[in-house]
Amino acid sequence: MGLGFRRELAESLFEAPAGSFDFVELAPENYLGFGGRRRRLLRKATAQWPVIAHGLALSLGGEDPFDPGYLDSLAQFLSDIGTPHYSDHLCVGSAEGRHSHELLPLPLTLSCARHCAKRVKEVTEALGLPMAVEHVSAYGCWPEDEMSEADFVTEVVEASGCGLLLDVNNLYVNASNFGFDPYQMLERMPLEETLQIHVAGHRLRSDGLRIDTHSEPILDQVYALLAEALKRTGPVPILIERDDRFPPLEDLFLEVERVRNIARRAFCAG
Ligand SMILES: [Fe+2]
Repeated sequence: MGLGFRRELAESLFEAPAGSFDFVELAPENYLGFGGRRRRLLRKATAQWPVIAHGLALSLGGEDPFDPGYLDSLAQFLSDIGTPHYSDHLCVGSAEGRHSHELLPLPLTLSCARHCAKRVKEVTEALGLPMAVEHVSAYGCWPEDEMSEADFVTEVVEASGCGLLLDVNNLYVNASNFGFDPYQMLERMPLEETLQIHVAGHRLRSDGLRIDTHSEPILDQVYALLAEALKRTGPVPILIERDDRFPPLEDLFLEVERVRNIARRAFCAG
């Protein structure tokens, strides 16, 4: 069970009782090429816990060629921190060299899935460690969509040979926003290829749209989906993403304990 290594929480995480959580996750983009306080925090984190890296900037569905210099630096960074795998999102985040700093959803087409798979393979070879792809939350769809999100993700995973980063909150948000049954979506996901799971809370707008803010407690329905997913994923690292409206650390540790209990029950029953 892990927590996101947010700089807002860093000092209190360092002082938390041992065993409160098992690993931290961080985005290389926030540390790569930085010195000073960020570098010191990174060193301290890697000395204290296992660290898993989760990227934001590869734009796996985009058209911009990867920068070989960036991939080399990223490979070195990932090797230095000892992450067991690397993940990024099935989205487009940049075009013509300009970064939007958003994880924009892709058209759900076979050609786009194969395009993503090709790029995932290219990154995997450059980085030299297992890759996982994460499906993103969305608030609209493309007119050219021709397949379900779960089938799209499955195509990318199968065609590239990569792993899945299953985000049960994203899955719940999209099922609710687009009127699907989250358990049917889960059923069609390539869960056997899961390398990691994300769990988070989100905001429900007054018009019924769910926004993936990572700013609220995890919903009971999302815990229930996690329990169902674990039946097929087996034991994998599970991370609680909390990126805004940070509660007292004790509240996050209660969420960690609840997830640990769900995992214990899933694997004892299995
Ligand atoms: Fe996530």
